[in-house]
Amino acid sequence: MKKLQFIGMSFVAMTLVSCGPSLPQLGKNTIDEVIAAMTLEEKARLVIGTGMEGTSGDSAIVGETKGLVPGAAGTTYPIPRLGIPGIVLADGPAGLRISPTRDNDTATYYCTHFPIGTVLASTWNKELVENVGKAIGNEVLEYGADVLLAPALNIHRNPLCGRNFEYYSEDPVVSGKIASAYVKGVQSNGVGTSVKHFAANNQESNRKSNKVHVSSRALREIYLKGFEIAIKESSPWTVMSSYNYLNGTYTSESKELLTTLLRDEWKFDGMVMTDWFGGSDAVAQMNAGNDMLQPGLPKQYDAIVKGVQNGTLDEKVLDRNVKRILNLIVKTPRFKGYAYSNKPDLKAHAAVTRQSATEGMVLLKNDGQALPLSNAIKNIALYGCTSYDFIAGGTGSGNVNRAYTVSLLDGLNNAGYTVDGNLKDLYEKYNADFYAEQAKVKNEDRLAQYLPKKRPAELVLPVSDLNNQALKSDMAILTFGRGSGEFVDRSSSDFTLSSEERQMLENVCKAFHACHKKVVVILNVAGVIETSSWKDKPDAILLSWLAGQEGGNSVTDILSGKVSPSGKLTMTFPEKLEDVASTKNFPTDGTYVSFDADTKDKQHEVRNWDYTDYEEDIYVGYRYFDTFHKNVSYPFGYGLSYTQFSYSQPEIKFENGSYVLTLQVKNVGKASGKEVVQLYVSAPSNTSLVKPEKELKDFTKTGELKPGESQTVTLKVAVSDLASYDEAHHSWLVDEGEYQFKIGASSRDIRASVSAEVKGLKQETSNILLLKTPLDRLTYIK
Ligand code: BGC
Repeated sequence: MKKLQFIGMSFVAMTLVSCGPSLPQLGKNTIDEVIAAMTLEEKARLVIGTGMEGTSGDSAIVGETKGLVPGAAGTTYPIPRLGIPGIVLADGPAGLRISPTRDNDTATYYCTHFPIGTVLASTWNKELVENVGKAIGNEVLEYGADVLLAPALNIHRNPLCGRNFEYYSEDPVVSGKIASAYVKGVQSNGVGTSVKHFAANNQESNRKSNKVHVSSRALREIYLKGFEIAIKESSPWTVMSSYNYLNGTYTSESKELLTTLLRDEWKFDGMVMTDWFGGSDAVAQMNAGNDMLQPGLPKQYDAIVKGVQNGTLDEKVLDRNVKRILNLIVKTPRFKGYAYSNKPDLKAHAAVTRQSATEGMVLLKNDGQALPLSNAIKNIALYGCTSYDFIAGGTGSGNVNRAYTVSLLDGLNNAGYTVDGNLKDLYEKYNADFYAEQAKVKNEDRLAQYLPKKRPAELVLPVSDLNNQALKSDMAILTFGRGSGEFVDRSSSDFTLSSEERQMLENVCKAFHACHKKVVVILNVAGVIETSSWKDKPDAILLSWLAGQEGGNSVTDILSGKVSPSGKLTMTFPEKLEDVASTKNFPTDGTYVSFDADTKDKQHEVRNWDYTDYEEDIYVGYRYFDTFHKNVSYPFGYGLSYTQFSYSQPEIKFENGSYVLTLQVKNVGKASGKEVVQLYVSAPSNTSLVKPEKELKDFTKTGELKPGESQTVTLKVAVSDLASYDEAHHSWLVDEGEYQFKIGASSRDIRASVSAEVKGLKQETSNILLLKTPLDRLTYIK
C-alpha cells in the first residue's frame, strides 16, 4: 500500500489550534467523548448528508454535488469545532465518477473508465479484479474522495435488469468472491467501499417503491449469499441499503436486515448508508441501524430532531449511529490530511483497463478457426454503427467521465489493420447526422441526460455494395451494440436483434461466404441478448460486453491473437427470454423509473411495478435451466479459447472442515491460454429439501499456460457451504449422504467428478425477513 502523505498539519491539528483545547477533538479524544460534546442538532446533521446542490426534493440527479470534489455523489456534514471533517462519497463500479471539469479551472479531472462489473466477473480472475480495484482506489485517493460507492453485486435475476451491467452474475458465489477481490483492491489504498444495493434490488422499474416478495430460502441462498461472502471475506467499510421494499419493509428501514442479519449474524462492524433518497421514514431508518441517510434532506433532519424530542428515537440509538459514522471518518484520507495530487497515473491505468477487459471477453463461437485473424488478413470491411461508436460503459451513477473511448475502428487501425475507407466515411457520417438530429430534440425531462443514449437504427446496405466489398476486403466484422443504464430496465425488444440488424447479418454473411471469406460478430452489449436464432450464420462471435475506455484495443488484442480469450459467462444465455424462470414476474416493457411517491392503494397495485413476486424462488439462472433440463443458447460458465485444456481426475481430501480438490489442468492445444476451472456440487437425491441439480461452490483460473504446460489447481468448499436454507426450522441444513463434486469447464461441460460421504450439519439462524404474502413458488418435482 502506498504510504499516506500529510499536508503539514492534519485536519485534527488545525482545528485544535483554531478551536482551543477545551473541546474534545476527533482523533485526540475518544469517539465517545466527542459524541458527548455534540449537540442534538449536530448529531442529526451528521447522520444525514449535506444534500445536493440545486435540489430540495426527492428528484435530485446523481453526482450533482459541487462541494469538496465536484461531481461526487455526496459528502458528510463537517463539524470543525470538534475536529470532524466532511468526507466525500463518490461512485462507482467501473471507476471514479466525478466532474471532469471545474468552474474557473483549466485543469481536467478525467478518470479511467474500467470495464463494467459484468466484464470483471467474466474474467473469473480474483487477482486481476483485485488489481483493477487497486487502480480504481488509487484514483479515489488521488482525486480526494474517501469512499467509493461500489462494488454493486445484485444478482442478475433477469437479463433485462437495466443495471445488470454493474452487477456480476446470476450466481452468488461468483458475485461474492469477485466483490471481495474488488473491495480488497480498492481498500488497499486506505479508502473505503460501499457494497450495494443491499438487497434484492433486481429491477429499475419503480425501484424506489417496488415491493419484493421473496421466500427466505431464496433470499438466504441467492440474494443475500453474495453479500454475506463479500462482507465476511473483505470487510468493506460501508454497506449501502437498497431502494426497494423487502417482504413488507423498506430495506433501509428493516432492523431485521440491517441489524439482526448484517451485524448480529454476519458480524459486520462498518457503517450503513441509504441509497440516494432511499426509504421514507428517517426515524425508522435510524432505529433499523441505517446509520446515514444520503444525500440528506431537510425533512429528514427535522424528523430526527423531533424523534429524539418526542421519544420515538432514543438518543442512544442516534449516538450509536453517529459513532459508526465517526469510526468511518477517522479511517479516511481526508481525516488523516492526505495531500492528494489530483494526478493519478491515467496512462498506467489505461493499460490496466485494456488488459482486464480483454480477459473478460467471451468467445462464444469460433468455427473453422476464424479467430485469431490469420496473417493474410489486412483489409477489413467493418460494419455496424457501433463499430465506429463503441460503447464503453453504462449510464447513470455507473458511468465514468473518461477522456476518450477507443472504438473498434481505432483499435483495428492501432494494430495495423486497414478498414474499408468508404464504409468508414459512410458510417461516420450516418452516426454524426443521427446524433446531430438528436441534439436538436429538446427534452424537458431532467433525467433524460442520464438515460442510455438513443442509438441509430442499423444501416442496411445494398446487397450489390456488400458483394463489391466482399471482393475487395479480406473479411467482415459486424458489431451489434446495446447500451443500458440506471433508472430504466431494458425492454424485450432490446433483447432481440432488430430487423435491420438481422438483415445486415444475413446479407453480409451471404456476400462474404460466397467469396469464402469469414464474418465475425462482435457483441458490444450491456447485457444478455438473444443469440440462438442467428448464431449459426457468422463464423465467430466475440462477446466484448462494455469493455471500458480502451474497448477497441481490447477487442483487437483478441482478434489479432495477441491474447487468447479466457473469459467465461457468469450468466446463462437462454434461447428465448420467456425461457428465463423470472420473466413472467419481471417488467419487460422498459418503462422509465418514476420519482413520484407511490400513492396507489393496495387494490390497484400493478404486478411487476408496485410489487414483484419472485415465484421462480431459488431457480435463478443455471439452477433453473440445469434442474429443469431446458435447452440454452450458451450455458453458465461457458467460453472458448484459442487452445484446449485437459483436466486430470481430481483428488479429494477433507481438511479443517472443508473438502479440498486438487487436479492438473494441461494446455493440450497449440496456443497459450488461461483456463477457468469450476467446482459444482450435486447433493444426493434424497435430501430433505429439494435442491438444484448442481450449484457452483468454487472456481479458479490458471495462469497463462504455454502449449504442453500444466498447472495444479486447488478448489475448496466448506461443509457449511453445502447447506440449503430450511425455512421450517430457520436453519442452514446439510443432509448427510454421498455428494458429487464436479469439475466443469462450464455448467454443462463437466470434465471429472468425485464423490464423498458428507456428515450432516445444522446451523440455526434468526427467523427473520419472512414472506408476508402467499407466493406460488416454483419447485422441482422429481
Ligand atoms: C444509485 C447508487 C449510487 C447513488 C449515488 C443512486 O441513484 O442507485 O448506486 O451510488 O445514486 O450516486
